[in-house]
Amino acid sequence: MKKIEHIGIAVKDMEKAKAVYKSLLGEPSYKTEAVESEGVSTSFFKCGDSKIELLEATNENSPIAKFIEKRGEGIHHIAFAVSDIDSEVKRLKSEGFRVLNEMPKIGADNKKVVFLHPKSSHGVLVELCEDINNNEK
Ligand code: CO
Repeated sequence: MKKIEHIGIAVKDMEKAKAVYKSLLGEPSYKTEAVESEGVSTSFFKCGDSKIELLEATNENSPIAKFIEKRGEGIHHIAFAVSDIDSEVKRLKSEGFRVLNEMPKIGADNKKVVFLHPKSSHGVLVELCEDINNNEK
């Protein structure tokens, strides 16, 4: 794991949340992007070397809609940057972590992403992400 790439926060109303996080962080969101396959709309804020990702459901079957229904708004996941997602998935599986999607999906912000089940990490949904234009390998 290289660093905490971002923290994902589930929100009910993206426009309101964007205004609040702009005030909090002192800078507006630099990017908004829909991930149709996941039923989410995302907005990213920079915070030093890390980011905050706001997530809003775009339909009622979205995992974000279900999350908010169950647990309310709040921290949804922590994303770690990795330089080789395939070997990291292999390693974590061998350590007993439950991988939700073994084949990396294309996520927001030009990343290949894999999620680990929150049950394997004490209630925290973990995202691994590798830059699609990764040239470290
Ligand atoms: Co994320």
